[in-house]
Amino acid sequence: MPKQILRFPKGFLWGAATAAHQIEGNNTNSDWWAWENSIKRHNQLINQGKNPADFCSGIACDSYNRFDEDFALAEHLGHSATRLSVEWARIQPKEGVFDEKELDHYEKVLQSAKFHGLQTFVTLHHFTNPLWFVQKGGFELAQNVDYFVRYAQKTVERLSEWVDFWITINEPEGFVGGSFLTGVWPPQKRNIFLAFRVAHNLSLAHNLSASKIRFTTGKPVGMAYDIVDLQPSGHLSRLVTKFFYDRFNKFVFYRTVNSCDFIGVNYYFHHHLRFWGKRKYSQSYHQVSDIGTSIHPEGMERVLLHLKKYHKPIYITENGIADAKDEKRKQFIKDHLYYVHRAMGKGADVKGYLYWSLIDNFEWEKGFAPRFGLVEIDREDLLRRRVRYSALKYAEICKNNYLEY
Ligand code: GCO
Repeated sequence: MPKQILRFPKGFLWGAATAAHQIEGNNTNSDWWAWENSIKRHNQLINQGKNPADFCSGIACDSYNRFDEDFALAEHLGHSATRLSVEWARIQPKEGVFDEKELDHYEKVLQSAKFHGLQTFVTLHHFTNPLWFVQKGGFELAQNVDYFVRYAQKTVERLSEWVDFWITINEPEGFVGGSFLTGVWPPQKRNIFLAFRVAHNLSLAHNLSASKIRFTTGKPVGMAYDIVDLQPSGHLSRLVTKFFYDRFNKFVFYRTVNSCDFIGVNYYFHHHLRFWGKRKYSQSYHQVSDIGTSIHPEGMERVLLHLKKYHKPIYITENGIADAKDEKRKQFIKDHLYYVHRAMGKGADVKGYLYWSLIDNFEWEKGFAPRFGLVEIDREDLLRRRVRYSALKYAEICKNNYLEY
């Protein structure tokens, strides 16, 4: 079949995303750092036959020092935007103490991004918390929400000059799920009531800080939601989805979307829910990533069309694949962009696409094994950055502002 040229509108943003704890290294004042280095965690890993050293973020990608090299790569790869997060545990290492040196540091980071021609999406909370905050009960307590709002206020006042888009909280659903439902993340609690309480407090944290950020900086504020394409088949699956799954998964979304200037979509895969009978396999259902998640580009279109009714600009703030051999990434990106473009043709107001991730990084409880990067990090060779083939193919799309499909 002859290839078609699918053009994206002028000014469409292209780039990749990262998060502080996953790339910077030595995030020593955070709850994650304390957990990764705790005896409890080490014993859990040893009991599973794993080596705890592989599950400590340690120096990560050393991007705390090598940020300019990373942004230079992004520029070289034709990116026009970058998404990164600033680390609350660095900016506020102790209750009531803001570390001006760390704010200076982030100013340099953002200036470097600008120098390399990148529009900046900056996330204030990407899963990690300062240890002192968690010791005070973290987001489990409503009275603690104000700590986040003050941190947000201080940080945006200092850095907004270099920021084009603020994102308050990354994937509240993922955070609550990992920390309070499945219990695979710190503080490893499993309690549905607590989960809803934290979700409620995160919604408050977003709503309160978003209006302050908008008022102080005039910059657009959004949230990056974890949006799963859930396709129930059969009556029971539909009922469970409607009355349980959807309620939980969209709990924060419904409470916060009105106070977003844009919607950030993190889309990775879909769940095909069926309780009995045969599953209906989708076109690409048989394909999985290195970590076993199903590759399902069609879901991207459904998700985007579903969001149309909110009449807000949409940015794909994450979409990516763990693929160490770089065999599927090129097609993964192209297929997802095809469905982004199709959704846009049907009226979805998508304004940018940020691949997850620019570089291989610390994949939370899974350690360093999953390789999401456009750029490989060689952990055996001084964290050398090596551009993958798929990154060059994605670069063509970014530079052309069209997709040949
Ligand atoms: C997320 C995450 C990333 C993950 C990515 C790959 O928002 O879930 O932002 O931190 O690394 O999703 O699993």
